Amino acid sequence: MTMPSRETAWQECINPDCRAQFECARTLFKCPKCGDLLDIRYDWDRIARPAKLGAFADRWARRDQPLDFSGVWRFRELLDFCPDACKVTLGEGQTLLERNDPLASQLRIKPGRLFLQYEGLNPSGSFKDNGMTAAFSHACMVGARSSACASTGNTSASMSLYAHACGLKCTVFIGSGRIAFGKLSQAMDYGGHTIQIRGDFDDCMRQVQAVCAREGIYLVNSLNPFRLEGQKTIMFRVLEGLGWEVPDWIIVPGGNLGNSSAFGKAFAELRRIGLIDRVPRLAVVNATGANTLTQLFNERGLRWNDGRVDQAMIDAYYDDLTQRGFSPHTCASAIEISRPVNLKKCLRALDICNGVVLAVSDEEILDAKAQIGATGLGCEPASAATIAGLKHLLADGVVGRDERVVCVLTGHPLKDPNVTVEYHRDRKGAFSNPPVEVPNDLEQIIRHL
Ligand code: F0G
Repeated sequence: MTMPSRETAWQECINPDCRAQFECARTLFKCPKCGDLLDIRYDWDRIARPAKLGAFADRWARRDQPLDFSGVWRFRELLDFCPDACKVTLGEGQTLLERNDPLASQLRIKPGRLFLQYEGLNPSGSFKDNGMTAAFSHACMVGARSSACASTGNTSASMSLYAHACGLKCTVFIGSGRIAFGKLSQAMDYGGHTIQIRGDFDDCMRQVQAVCAREGIYLVNSLNPFRLEGQKTIMFRVLEGLGWEVPDWIIVPGGNLGNSSAFGKAFAELRRIGLIDRVPRLAVVNATGANTLTQLFNERGLRWNDGRVDQAMIDAYYDDLTQRGFSPHTCASAIEISRPVNLKKCLRALDICNGVVLAVSDEEILDAKAQIGATGLGCEPASAATIAGLKHLLADGVVGRDERVVCVLTGHPLKDPNVTVEYHRDRKGAFSNPPVEVPNDLEQIIRHL
């Protein structure tokens, strides 16, 4: 063990046959002993924290205290891996849990049972800021100078924003033609050095790991375990929005599987320290054109299995993708990923939360997105996979119509205006709302009102 005994937080390999531990002051991203994923672990008995969840909410009133105002750092005792002096905040996590009865009624769910968690309200317009504030706080703690990520867009926008906020260089790797314009425009505007690779997200993910390892650059993809600590707070805020009551279901889109992994860890920890007494069930929703998790979990029976995940099954699946020259395709470009780096941690979350997995078509995603837009604040395509998935879960009787359901809407509607405009203008679905063209004539205009 390389960890000094006085530490209350450390990094630990998730492989039960390894469990190697390392100080938080090290920059690792993968276990140097066995190559598996790393977790941040805490000595909860030695971390002083509020006895009740409600005490965290009280801090929000102190708007002149950036760490109290942050929707991530007001829960800082629950992610206590770095000193306050290193923490980087841009006021992330001022997000909203909306009770949406009109949409509930369309889905024939009881009023007061459907909630939408709008993570698009973050500074860069997606949930990524929850993780990025934590990753960049760690980057500052270890004295990093330069950061990088592979991205389908939102990670690059968020990284670029946080990198310039704390003076780090940043490089974005994106697959050519695979990024929504709202996101690309942000990365460029926030000063990110953007490299387009002729390939897809999975190619970028592989290359960025090699680049960071070789050049000593700080990696901010969700492989970075500190990022996932920040994303736990999305669930803390959901509980806060429900008066600290645990819902029956959390539904989340599945791409690189960072969120689902973080949510499972959040609930396991809250239960472990006695702040909640039960965990919700979790549903992770893929797009059918990028459905690795669904294939492995539903069709091949891959499970967490107390940490002894069947790696040979995963390798065989990926080998087959390679042999077929498979590249994922979905209109929800944010989740167009076929080799999710957090697969094992997601399996653990599904185990903790008695979770289910499913995939939805692009048509279903687009219709759900229009319904969310017409009844609530709207979201980008990947986020709408949650409501599309919920429709299936209701029809199959997996989710009851009187159960309390929270769908996590991960990104802002303006992230991908092209998909939205095409859906409405080209009448692509049942909820299309195309503009009407009329001559420049008052009588004719009035006739079309
Ligand atoms: N929703 C949105 C809006 C996203 O941007 C992403 C991931 C996901 C869902 C999937 O989340 O990886 O936690 O399962 N976007 C990454 C990016 C890959 O590069 O912006 P996950």
